[in-house]
Amino acid sequence: MVVSPVRDRVSLNSRNAKRREGLPWQVPYHLAIIMDGNGRWAQERGLPRLAGHRAGTENLRRILRACVDFGIKILTIYAFSTENWGRPEPEVRGLMSILERVIDRELADLDRNGVRIRHLGRLEGISPRLQQKIRYAIEKTAHNDRLILNVAFNYGGRAEILDAVRRIIREGIPAERVDEALFSRYLYTAGLPDPDLIVRTSGEVRISNFLLWQGAYAEYYATPTYWPDFDKEELRKAIEHYSRRERRFGRLRQ
Ligand code: IPE
Ligand code: IPE
Ligand code: MG
Repeated sequence: MVVSPVRDRVSLNSRNAKRREGLPWQVPYHLAIIMDGNGRWAQERGLPRLAGHRAGTENLRRILRACVDFGIKILTIYAFSTENWGRPEPEVRGLMSILERVIDRELADLDRNGVRIRHLGRLEGISPRLQQKIRYAIEKTAHNDRLILNVAFNYGGRAEILDAVRRIIREGIPAERVDEALFSRYLYTAGLPDPDLIVRTSGEVRISNFLLWQGAYAEYYATPTYWPDFDKEELRKAIEHYSRRERRFGRLRQ
């Protein structure tokens, strides 16, 4: 699907007015979430960290449904960063197998519910079997347009910018043609509008290499709630905060 950011945003706002669920506010078109705090959630319960990652995956299912109810059109989730390879090997292996199982278990349902899956990140470094599953999930859901789910997996904002620069150079694009619009088309998010709201759970207030380019004018929202406990009501609160913000994009208030 080729997304025309400006046109889609306009039509979405009017659609939202009809589709919102008890929300008198402006809903973000593109919501991004740094799903953080799985490990601490588990540790506080005396469970292994991987139990927290599994609980986090369960929660994703609930939040996906809530996003559809609220009329959000694009959800980007940060699932595994380029820096997360530095964690102990059993945790990395566990995270890889959780994604594999999620694809196996949820793909048919996601497809049936009109979710289009995209991957943000480098495929290199991921096992060939998981790469194949990711490619299959993307192909199988390519025709859907109810909600775009961008899965940032083996994703780093700096790696993304470097990958774009390398491709631009390799394709011999002349320097004077490189502007913001062209550059955006070389990012993993090519064709998609920037996130309106970036939520981080677990109390950390940092960006951890997430959407460095695309987040330039996103609104940020941090909550102390760990990701497995971040429910629909918490999401509603985040959206309410977002709708009270005044986005000025460097200009003065209208
Ligand atoms: C976020 O939870 C998920 C990933 C980074 C894969 P964490 O695993 O970072 O949980 P905490 O921050 O250690 O609690
Ligand atoms: C960011 O969380 C990455 C994901 C949520 C996938 P981290 O837990 O890895 O980030 P830091 O280490 O707190 O910055
Ligand atoms: Mg963390």
